[in-house]
Amino acid sequence: MSNLTQKKILTGVERTFDASEIIVTKTDLAGKMTYCNRTFLKLAGYEEKECLGVQHNLIRHPDMPRSVFKLLWDTLQAGQEIFAYVNNRSKNGDHYWVLAHVTPSFSANGEVLGYHSNRRVPNRAVIDEHIIPLYAQLLEIEKSHESPKEGMNNAVQTVMDLLQENRVGFNEFMFSLGV
Ligand SMILES: Cc1cc2nc3c(=O)[nH]c(=O)nc-3n(C[C@H](O)[C@H](O)[C@H](O)COP(=O)(O)O)c2cc1C
Repeated sequence: MSNLTQKKILTGVERTFDASEIIVTKTDLAGKMTYCNRTFLKLAGYEEKECLGVQHNLIRHPDMPRSVFKLLWDTLQAGQEIFAYVNNRSKNGDHYWVLAHVTPSFSANGEVLGYHSNRRVPNRAVIDEHIIPLYAQLLEIEKSHESPKEGMNNAVQTVMDLLQENRVGFNEFMFSLGV
């Protein structure tokens, strides 16, 4: 099966992991994986050699709004950390939800060397009650525009409006939903 065909398969089966486990990956500045821990390989269903040097969007789930990744990259490129709920797709089409912390890795003199992410088990109620509806809304906004870029910018604006309404930053908002 070609990679492209394989990417579209979704089994609807959710994978879970233990609260004591942390999923870790590191990337270079372009988002290509440079390190994956064993928990990542187990959940994502890949071997290390299939991941190293490969873009992290390898495990992108089609239900994830593009706007969330835009906010992630904008935050990282501003030299800041971000906390976000992410749904990932395993190699066989299963999926797994995480609460991700993603941060730039700095050298001693403050230069960004790459990026680093640790993920832990998310609170199920937060996913079901807040994140799934919010991401579905963002995806809907993204799809309702002919131009993907316009759709994404509109969805980003929706998130910004939500933050403004609640007078919080993105990370604060994520944590205000409960952990
Ligand atoms: C350190 C780091 C970790 C990332 N982890 C994930 C991840 O677990 N799942 C994911 O879909 N994208 C992750 N991303 C974002 C991807 O690089 C990518 O932006 C995203 O999958 C959307 O794909 P696209 O940019 O091709 O649209 C991560 C990025 C970085 C820098």
